[in-house]
Amino acid sequence: MTLTFIGHGYVGLVTAAVFADLGNKVYVIGHTPKKIEDLKKGIIPFFEPGLEELVKKNYEAGRLIFTLDYAPGVPDSEIVFIAVGTPPQKTGDAELYTVFEVAKKIGENLKPGGYTVVATKSTVPPGTNKKIARIVEESKSTNSSFDIASVPEFLREGTAISDTLNPDRVVIGTESSKARQILVDLHKPLIEDSDSHKAFIVDSNLETAELIKYASNSFLATKISFANAIAKLSELCGADGLKVLEGIGYDKRIGRDFLSPGAGYGGSCFPKDVKALVSIAADYGYDFSLLNDVEGINKQAKRDIVRKARAMTGDLRGKTVAVLGLAFKPNTDDMREAPAIDIIELLKKEGALIKVFDPQATANAKEIIRDIEYSNDLYDAVKDAEVLIIVTEWNEFKEADLEKIKSLMMSPNIIDGRNIYDPSTMKNLGFSYEGTGR
Ligand SMILES: NC(=O)c1ccc[n+]([C@@H]2O[C@H](COP(=O)([O-])OP(=O)(O)OC[C@H]3O[C@@H](n4cnc5c(N)ncnc54)[C@H](O)[C@@H]3O)[C@@H](O)[C@H]2O)c1
Repeated sequence: MTLTFIGHGYVGLVTAAVFADLGNKVYVIGHTPKKIEDLKKGIIPFFEPGLEELVKKNYEAGRLIFTLDYAPGVPDSEIVFIAVGTPPQKTGDAELYTVFEVAKKIGENLKPGGYTVVATKSTVPPGTNKKIARIVEESKSTNSSFDIASVPEFLREGTAISDTLNPDRVVIGTESSKARQILVDLHKPLIEDSDSHKAFIVDSNLETAELIKYASNSFLATKISFANAIAKLSELCGADGLKVLEGIGYDKRIGRDFLSPGAGYGGSCFPKDVKALVSIAADYGYDFSLLNDVEGINKQAKRDIVRKARAMTGDLRGKTVAVLGLAFKPNTDDMREAPAIDIIELLKKEGALIKVFDPQATANAKEIIRDIEYSNDLYDAVKDAEVLIIVTEWNEFKEADLEKIKSLMMSPNIIDGRNIYDPSTMKNLGFSYEGTGR
């Protein structure tokens, strides 16, 4: 098939590269000349394991085409995917300006006499795809035809390629059986060719597909906040929160994933999608107060890390605090709504001097967090620190030389915001150690 992706972010570029690797011809349309030139040279605008190789391989094979122009990609494609960002506005609502802007350009470039599926991968509120359809309809020539579909994306940064190759489900929201069949055909290799994996196709109307994405992210955020609430209660009542969560997670109705307490959720999706779902619900007169509590518990998880640091040092004023991990999770350089941002701001307010290290996210963090010392390696970051806070669970922190860390620190205090170390090992090594929920 010939496909076009508008947007080359985590979703657009990864999905485009995977479909190119499966043998499709894929146009990727951007709007920044420098980024398009970089992509042609194999320079990826963000860090995602395995992506550089996949992009280079398919670009060199002529299956991936990077361009600023809508033609010939859009008129030649059977499916045009919208994969641009939908960042949060101040109100919590998704910003849809770019989605509508590219919808107009898609309409203007549809092939006269042809048929195209316009499929939205971007996360958009219920009702948006119908608006996209109206915009495409108004901007297209009279003899071109199209159908609209909502095909929300569920990949996770850090494991985006394997998630795309092995989806748990493919949601296809459309009123058109023709569009549905074309989308099923495209996804067939992901659904049928995997030995170990069987994905489901979820057929639905547009609004259902749109809401599935928000419901999915909000439910996952709820699980994390529930785990953090149980962790907090466990600390207060002397229970081992990790065992409590293990104990409930074996119940198949609950499941063990996403029950790890810690420094809170972040990233480009959960915080924005939770806020957007509250706002969507309010538009329909429903007060989704559960999700306000989910957000509140998430904020508290970050404040708790700082409270523990204060308790360990007596007073944080003038004390050196080392923070390991800035990205919102390991294996990405994405700093959007990373818990480290709020934690560091709270530490700064208390007068702490902050040294940080992250294996990938430093350049992005420097754009957001100022007046702190960025270190080039983790041992440099912990030197002379009176307390060390683990915020992101990178493997290299798990494998760190703890004796060396202890010898470099001014005082051997560790707050483990991701429970990556074993409390008894830390005690035996002579650390004052606080995990989360233990
Ligand atoms: N990042 C994730 O893990 C993830 C997972 C599932 C769904 N989503 C959703 O997918 C969508 C895209 O997310 P992302 O993380 O890939 O965003 P991103 O910020 O990484 O990328 C957005 C892309 O849109 C491009 N863009 C912006 N304006 C444009 C324009 N006028 N014309 C062409 N391209 C333009 C940008 O250049 C960039 O390539 C969002 O709605 C997001 O909520 C993201």
